[in-house]
Amino acid sequence: MIKNIGIIGAGQMGCGIAHVSAVAGYKVHIYDVAKERIEPALATINGNLARQVSSGKMSDDARNQALSRITASADVNDLANADLVIEAATEDESVKRKIYAQVCPVLKPEAILATNTSSLSITRLASSTDRAERFMGIHFMNPVPVMKLVELVRGIATDEETFQAAREFVNTLDKTTTVAEDFPAFIVNRILLPMINEAIYTLYEGVGTVEAIDTAMRLGANHPMGPLQLADFIGLDTCLSIMQVLHDGLADSKYRPCPLLVKYVEAGWLGRKSGRGFYDYR
Ligand code: CAA
Repeated sequence: MIKNIGIIGAGQMGCGIAHVSAVAGYKVHIYDVAKERIEPALATINGNLARQVSSGKMSDDARNQALSRITASADVNDLANADLVIEAATEDESVKRKIYAQVCPVLKPEAILATNTSSLSITRLASSTDRAERFMGIHFMNPVPVMKLVELVRGIATDEETFQAAREFVNTLDKTTTVAEDFPAFIVNRILLPMINEAIYTLYEGVGTVEAIDTAMRLGANHPMGPLQLADFIGLDTCLSIMQVLHDGLADSKYRPCPLLVKYVEAGWLGRKSGRGFYDYR
């Protein structure tokens, strides 16, 4: 029976998962190692809930109730009560491994540990936990409060009870699940990221300007955002690490990250979150 949700990581995905879980009635605790990220995270959730109130999708009372169900801290011990913990830390395998080593001893033995990884092997991540049977991928899309899909990914050792519990949890969030096998980047990012990478090559080779490429795909293919705007929204560091996982994992040159993407990340131009990417947000 899942009642208490733990979220690891107070970034945009962690905030979004906390938001939808609290709205669905779960008690949520967000843990982030960086104390200074806690307040901005709660402010982000508050702001996104307010958007839903102002667009008439939620009452003020429901928003206050959701907020009252969320706590946050930089103390890992505060995850001790969680029935399901969803790790939404940065897309870096060594960082995730370190987090699991720190978090697993704190968790209840029966707690499920899930990762929101957008590309990494669930089986390999599971092997660095103490609970490979109760470990799996629950991959939300950004922005979490808006996007309807969640990918569910089993590792080789994930047991059926864990899988069903995760599926039921996601269903209670009013999201649709799809099952992906444990291959690099699963389904959505296997298809989406090469498209974004190709858009960056299109810019790199001078086929079109940033605006031309985004307008072409918004109006010519009916995408809600152009691919370069979407890359900025996802985070260029995340886009690069997904392309690297595809390139390494599938050993095919068609997944080679565009050199321009590499250069932007090296410059610290990570998209919206850093104030600059293909667009300037400052
Ligand atoms: N929280 C709550 N509500 C939000 C929100 C948030 N973070 N962001 C947007 N919204 C709401 C708005 O309040 C608005 O609600 P109403 O319709 O009720 O007014 C609605 O969503 C639409 O937002 P906007 O009017 O501000 O802007 P928009 O119409 O341009 O839509 C968008 C914004 C939903 C982000 C849309 O541009 C879109 O769907 N973009 C593509 C997103 C996408 O492809 N996501 C997947 C990324 S890949 C991924 O996530 C996987 C990975 O691992 C990398």
